[in-house]
Amino acid sequence: MEVVVLTDAEQLAELATDAVVALVRAQPSAVLGLATGSSPLGVYAGLRLRHAAGEVDLSRVRGFLLDEYVGLPPGHPERYREVIRRELDGLGLADDAVQGPDGLSHDLPGACAAYERAIAASGGVDLQLLGIGTDGHIGFNEPGSSLASRTRVKTLTAQTRADNARFFAAPDEVPHHVLTQGLGTIREARHLVLLATGAGKAEAVARTVEGAVSASCPASVLQLHPHVSVLLDEAAAAGLQHLAYYRETWAGKPAWQGL
Ligand code: F6R
Repeated sequence: MEVVVLTDAEQLAELATDAVVALVRAQPSAVLGLATGSSPLGVYAGLRLRHAAGEVDLSRVRGFLLDEYVGLPPGHPERYREVIRRELDGLGLADDAVQGPDGLSHDLPGACAAYERAIAASGGVDLQLLGIGTDGHIGFNEPGSSLASRTRVKTLTAQTRADNARFFAAPDEVPHHVLTQGLGTIREARHLVLLATGAGKAEAVARTVEGAVSASCPASVLQLHPHVSVLLDEAAAAGLQHLAYYRETWAGKPAWQGL
């Protein structure tokens, strides 16, 4: 696990954007794992800028959403398919390039199984963007999630619903249920890039990076993955014991190596 601590969200987003651009230049039909929420927005903005500058051709890229709310109707602005459609608009991706689990299916377990098959048929995710919940979730794998879990229905914790209420007109409008890639699914992506900013994430980040691997902090499963980049601002990194070591390591890393 590589921990990179920078001063602000813009720097983190730029670093993650560089990693995506380098991947797509090397592998034009790369498969991206797409998170929603606030954390990856700077990366999507960075990709729009790099695309507009002609620095990257994303026309052959494919994408898979991490998760989706159950029951939000087509066109709802907070449905994650809709969020990602807005964020990636104008990047030249094919219409069917991005898939997400179908939160409107009458057969949710069947939709989850179909989603797993679709990810496998694509050859798997090359680079997965991740945020982290204040309770340590990734995707919507809330505390107690099996470290081997696959895409399935989950119930959001009260804390996550409260955290996400800012996106909705009223707290009660946040759905209780979601479909999410499992921790076992996420772990199969070849490179995981987690972005976290702000003091509210510090405890979850410390447990993820330096705590015990445990379903009580689902993101701690990242410790078992061979290629993880954890990109933090100062506030999110504040609870880390080995901060000086992470800084020294990053400062000494040749820029050409990237993430
Ligand atoms: C969203 C997702 C969630 C968020 C997490 C952090 O697709 O999978 O795990 O990444 O809830 O949300 P933000 O970035 O809004 O703080």
